[in-house]
Amino acid sequence: MKCQLSCVECGQTYAPLQVRYRCDCGGTLDVLHKDTALNQVPLETFDRRLASKLPADKSGVWRFREFILPVDETDICTRGEGNTGLYRSQTLANYVGLSSIALKHEGENPTGSFKDRGMTVGITMAKKLGFERVAVASTGNTSASLAAYAAMVGLQAVIFIPNGQIALGKLGQALAYGARTLQIDGDFDDAMALVESFSANEGLYLLNSVNPFRIEGQKAIGFEILQDLDWRVPDWIVVPGGNLGNNSAITKGMIELYELGLIDRLPRVAVIQADGANPLHVAWTGGGALQPQKAKTLATAIKIGTPISFTKSLRGLRRVNGWVDSVSDDDILEAKAVVDSSGIGAEPASCASIAGVRKMVRNGIIGASDKVVAVLTGHVLKDPGIVFDFK
Ligand code: F0G
Repeated sequence: MKCQLSCVECGQTYAPLQVRYRCDCGGTLDVLHKDTALNQVPLETFDRRLASKLPADKSGVWRFREFILPVDETDICTRGEGNTGLYRSQTLANYVGLSSIALKHEGENPTGSFKDRGMTVGITMAKKLGFERVAVASTGNTSASLAAYAAMVGLQAVIFIPNGQIALGKLGQALAYGARTLQIDGDFDDAMALVESFSANEGLYLLNSVNPFRIEGQKAIGFEILQDLDWRVPDWIVVPGGNLGNNSAITKGMIELYELGLIDRLPRVAVIQADGANPLHVAWTGGGALQPQKAKTLATAIKIGTPISFTKSLRGLRRVNGWVDSVSDDDILEAKAVVDSSGIGAEPASCASIAGVRKMVRNGIIGASDKVVAVLTGHVLKDPGIVFDFK
């Protein structure tokens, strides 16, 4: 494979097919693409593939495969992920205080969240490396996605979830798809620590976003947003932040395209956290160091106090002149009520991005004429309980 793994802390490099998620120094790893011909891939290639019936072309991840992972097309495990809608809603534009806003609805992925974009790449690698069992810790969506993709190709999924702290729709999916489900007496951060050592000791392939190949798949959210916009770069891409893999992926992808000369400027990326689970926001506004938190928010998907991709996230955000904000649970629930009643609908954590845009417009961070794409990360059916609890 024309790529290598590189440590985000010390720059040490490793071969791509070596099973490792961290450098010897403990830092997380990036996939570095080594194909020197990448700057000669015309963006029209990806438009042409929209009309193709090949599974790799029909996937909203593998359509961009040159920039995702150099694997043989026959190795790819895909469910046609991506290809999600980019919506304009006047109701939401009015709500956030802009004349227009675009919403990329990642809840329209096969298992109802953006996680499928990373998982198609992660499971492809698990097969390629010869693993029979795969594992994640999850606040729900990653486990649902893992369970589905693993089952599709005959792998056993093992999931670690915080007992009583994940939305019912997500747990139902994981069980239905046949994941071996371990409910941990603790929160997501406890489950994450446990799954890292468990996977290493028991020989399971770890597919949390500490796995650098997952991040490569999630870059495709940004690529597809550009394609939706006829390759025009928006001023802002706004995402909710939890374990911080998603924003790290989006900035990585955009920086790669920019450095290859395929786009002429970088979009700014904003990460929105819940007030009770906002270690990135604290670091952004303070000294830049991670201070682990005991996370507390109704938006269970982003209830994370020690994010795995913290360093990658800060690095990417600084490079794209990004922003980090924090919103209350009330703000998230109010935004969700507006997203839902606009007919679009999304799970609570997704709506942090809308609450965040509203706050950033009010505070003058986002300008009145800025072109903004807010990412809705999960489907409204993921967390039906919250609709009854807060109607
Ligand atoms: N939105 C939703 C719906 C999520 O499920 C997650 C993360 C995020 C936003 C935050 O993305 O972690 O890349 O910063 N869910 C993970 C999970 C942690 O286990 O499903 P992130």
